[in-house]
Formats: sequence, C-alpha cells, structure tokens
Amino acid sequence: MHIALYERIWLGIAVVILILFLGVITVGAMVNIGNMPGMAEVVNPDTVATNDPRFANPRVEQVSPGEYEVYVVARMYSFSPREIEVPAGAQVTFYVTSPDVLHGFEIAGTNFNAMVTPGYVTRISGKFPKPGEYLILCNEYCGQGHQMMSAKVEVK
Ligand code: CUA
Repeated sequence: MHIALYERIWLGIAVVILILFLGVITVGAMVNIGNMPGMAEVVNPDTVATNDPRFANPRVEQVSPGEYEVYVVARMYSFSPREIEVPAGAQVTFYVTSPDVLHGFEIAGTNFNAMVTPGYVTRISGKFPKPGEYLILCNEYCGQGHQMMSAKVEVK
C-alpha cells in the first residue's frame, strides 16, 4: 500500500501528540499535580446534610498552620457556606457533597473544578496564590434554579 509522504508525516505527528497526551495523563495521575479531584468517600445522601457533623454544619476549619479544610454542601440551588474565607498561599482542601442531584463545583479563574455526585464526598485540594474574591459556580445543570447557584471565596 502506498502512503503519500505528507500523509505519513501527519500520521507521525498525530501519533506523537497521542503519546504526549497519554504521558501527561500518566504523570498527572502518578504525581499529584495540585488538584486532581476525586471521590473521597461514600455517604448516604439522605442523611449526610443532617446527621454527618461535617456537613450538618458546613464550615472552614483550620487543621494546622497554613492548612485548611472546607466542608461544603451543594444543593438545589445554593452552596453552604455561602462565604468562605481562607488566607492566600494556604493549602485548602474542599470536601463537597450533595444531598439531592448532581452539581458542579467550579471556582472561576482557578484550577478548582469538580463534579459533586449525591452519595459521595468529592475531595479537591489546592492553593489560592493571590488574594481576591473568587466566585464558586455550579457548572452542571441541576434544575430550574441552576443559574442562581453560587457562593464566594474570600482570599485574604
Ligand atoms: Cu447545581 Cu447547577
């Protein structure tokens, strides 16, 4: 079978790109490059927002100097807490769960972006290098009030 030179060159480029992307994914999965979101835990969506002490009282908790944990409940159509305050440069780990339907947890202008599935706790960790006000958005369509679903992070 004859393959023209240009076609062979482009096939080669496509293969190199594929290998490059696979490499990035493999390296990213092996070394934790900041915020690979993950399902940290299985919970009961019917009781998590009332009986689980972390999510019955959603909050920011300082676990050590420069390290914070934030417990967030994403529900139709709001996030609790509505305002989160953390210092710039600190390691911040969000634990997010939903008692109702699928939601998104995206912090606009940052690397934080995860899916929130009822029955699971989504864990996402990272840093806010610069002070400012960041918008938390739901980026999964979750019903008629989806576009109203937001909160904010105040980075001091
Ligand atoms: Cu929650 Cu869209």
